[in-house]
Amino acid sequence: KKIAVFASGSGSNFQALVDAAKANQLSAEIVLMVCDKPRAYAIERADKAGVPSLVISPKDFASKTDYEKEILQKLNESGVELIVLAGYMRLIGETLLSAYEGRIVNIHPSLLPSFAGKDAIGQAFQAKVKITGVTVHYVDEGMDTGPIIAQEAVKMDEHETRESLEAKIHQVEHLLYPRVIQKLCSTDRKV
Ligand code: GRF
Repeated sequence: KKIAVFASGSGSNFQALVDAAKANQLSAEIVLMVCDKPRAYAIERADKAGVPSLVISPKDFASKTDYEKEILQKLNESGVELIVLAGYMRLIGETLLSAYEGRIVNIHPSLLPSFAGKDAIGQAFQAKVKITGVTVHYVDEGMDTGPIIAQEAVKMDEHETRESLEAKIHQVEHLLYPRVIQKLCSTDRKV
């Protein structure tokens, strides 16, 4: 399957997918990296990996629809079959949702429905929960609300700091996301 990864920041999850593909652990081809932040480190990662990137800023468009139409055209040109959100800090709008219905997935650093939205790791840390984790889910029009595909728990230890928790969560993400994407790409189910 041909996939596009959307990122806004560091792109470590994008990197994990690139690495999995290189190691033949992902029967998917990452044909495009879409980024809405011109200075994001994810762009450098894409360059290094030889993955074409589309750097596109919503500010340059009159509306979200126009912005997404432009992205959609590029996705179509590259034959993208599945959209993989990896730290893309924007709600997906009507245009992409209807074109890719049931074919957009996201990774979120908490056990949804707990701690949806921004800074989920910080939210969980402040709430002093004993267990948090990572969720991969289908994307709908809400914020971190679509049907859950996979979850993995991460324990909050007694002397956990925000930073150590963050490191543990990212480690889990980097293993879980390629595994789940591989599963979605290798089964016949509608992804
Ligand atoms: C990850 O924690 C992901 O769960 C969340 O945004 C973060 C992105 O990190 N949606 P990175 O850009 O992949 O390093």
